[in-house]
Amino acid sequence: MTRVFSGVQPSGDMHIGNYLGAFRQWVEDQHSSDAFYCIVDLHALTVDTDPEMLRSRTVDAAINLLAVGLDPQICTIFVQSHVPEHAQLSWLLECMASMGELRRMTQFKEKGAGRESVRVGLFTYPVLMTADILLYDAERVPVGDDQRQHLELARNLAIRFNNRYGDTFVVPAPSVPRVAARVMDLQDPTQKMSKSSISPTGTVAILDSADQIEKKVRRAVTDPGKEVVYDPVNKPGISNLLDILAAVTGKSNSELATEYHSYAQLKSDVAEALIELLRPIQQRHAQLSADPGEVLAILARGAERAQSIAAVTLERAANAMGLLPPKLI
Ligand code: TYM
Repeated sequence: MTRVFSGVQPSGDMHIGNYLGAFRQWVEDQHSSDAFYCIVDLHALTVDTDPEMLRSRTVDAAINLLAVGLDPQICTIFVQSHVPEHAQLSWLLECMASMGELRRMTQFKEKGAGRESVRVGLFTYPVLMTADILLYDAERVPVGDDQRQHLELARNLAIRFNNRYGDTFVVPAPSVPRVAARVMDLQDPTQKMSKSSISPTGTVAILDSADQIEKKVRRAVTDPGKEVVYDPVNKPGISNLLDILAAVTGKSNSELATEYHSYAQLKSDVAEALIELLRPIQQRHAQLSADPGEVLAILARGAERAQSIAAVTLERAANAMGLLPPKLI
């Protein structure tokens, strides 16, 4: 079976961008692949985060993943810091990566821009991400479009390592959905929808009420003119709404455009489609939240399975680089 790996940061409320760009693929992939899904809490430390908040968001991230339909009987769900091999392999890979290639990462440039002091962890973030993926010999990594550049780095580091030290890592490939790979902010459709958005009205959270969804979509920024056409360059607001509706209904965005003669009708259908999409997820979220003990048990079993694989890969990489094994085999 193909090995699949992906991750999400417990850094805020999960939103429809995460769902349509990533989680939906994860749910599908768990049936056809040996899938590992990781809540990357170490990555969340790269910007200042309240400790209690991080802990509760980590549990909530797990509840979200179960609520969207991940089944711990057929896939592995775990927390990154529970498997220390992630940080260990990251160090070995940092010794393979160059300052220049990390400096070119657009996410680092964006997140670091304008800050007086930038954490070293934010700079080396993509190397830790590479370690996440390579530890599991993942062939495929289902992600949204914003992670493409990081995946390119992961491929380059895997290839560089294999060339220098012999065949050690599987070279992973990104898997980006055809529609809704980059869901945009409803208030600023030139920016991607994001957990850390400064405009909460631009983001539809997975747990938003029907009323909130209806309001946010109704107030979504649209474009001059009245015509509903799919044109991301000249009509980014309307095109984003068409993309969302296309992703939810399975129809094509340009075909959908021909069905609408007013922005208001399009908005009303987008809101309704999202409310229906999220309703069952929200119901499962409420049920799962009532038993956090069961969620923690799922994470503990996930970490055990993940570590049994990660430890073998780490040892392989350490040996290849010439580190002395701690005990003679
Ligand atoms: P994160 O937590 O920002 O997002 C989780 C997943 O959701 C996708 N996504 C989106 N897709 C479409 N439209 C959007 N507006 C949108 N916003 C987010 C992301 O592409 C991602 O797939 N660095 C990663 C986490 C990570 C990871 C990994 C991913 C750490 N290690 C190893 C894959 C493999 C991140 O911050 O994702």
